Amino acid sequence: MKKSILGLAGLGLTSLLMLTGCGKSDDVLVVGTNASFPPFEYVGGPSGDEVKGFDIDLARQIAKDAGKTLKIENMNFDSLIVALNSGKIDFVASGMTITEERQASVDFSAPYYEATQVVLMNKDNDSIKSIDDLNGKRIAVQLGSTGDIMAKNYSDNVTAFNTGFEAVMELRNAKVDLVLFDSEPAISFLNQNPQLKMVELDFEPEFYGLAVSKNQTELLSQINTTLSNMKSNGAYDALVSKHMK
Ligand code: ARG
Repeated sequence: MKKSILGLAGLGLTSLLMLTGCGKSDDVLVVGTNASFPPFEYVGGPSGDEVKGFDIDLARQIAKDAGKTLKIENMNFDSLIVALNSGKIDFVASGMTITEERQASVDFSAPYYEATQVVLMNKDNDSIKSIDDLNGKRIAVQLGSTGDIMAKNYSDNVTAFNTGFEAVMELRNAKVDLVLFDSEPAISFLNQNPQLKMVELDFEPEFYGLAVSKNQTELLSQINTTLSNMKSNGAYDALVSKHMK
């Protein structure tokens, strides 16, 4: 569809950006994620390249309620906020913890999941009993995650990887002492790596939120409405039982 210059002048900045920049159409909602964070988002399925998980099911319901088709953009975790604020994606569903620092550049939905950081280590390692024991340890994390930010409070020896999977590999190869990671994906890594164990320390709880760029009030309220409907009609609990074992 062609728009006249006059027609364009009447459009808001966002629609203008959508027409010029990124080939997004009005009936598509683009969710950004980093699909290396099971059970929230991971690559799998019969074809082996389908992005699936708890967050993806949430995102599908949000798109459905908005009468739109969901498109998934899988990217590095530390690219998500940039992609959001450049209009490449409409919202982030990626187990993203609501933090004050992130709230300075994006808006979050109501919290939809409570998590905490945990330690993954090799079974034969007994050196971590409390948070203080993290001091000076060699720690692997996912780049840009809350684990990454926290680890730096304890150690100068923090290596950040694009995926938690790579961090776990580093641990299996004994190149680091531990991985600091979110609880649910840690359990899922544990299930695949019987030589590892999980140590729970006294970390503060974290709350995941879906993120939109600032001033996307309509989308944000649609997202919150879907979340609260899913909580009250049992769909949220059904997703928890489907994805968290
Ligand atoms: N909750 C952590 C954070 O915000 C880690 C999230 C990582 N998510 C992912 N899909 N890789 O920072």
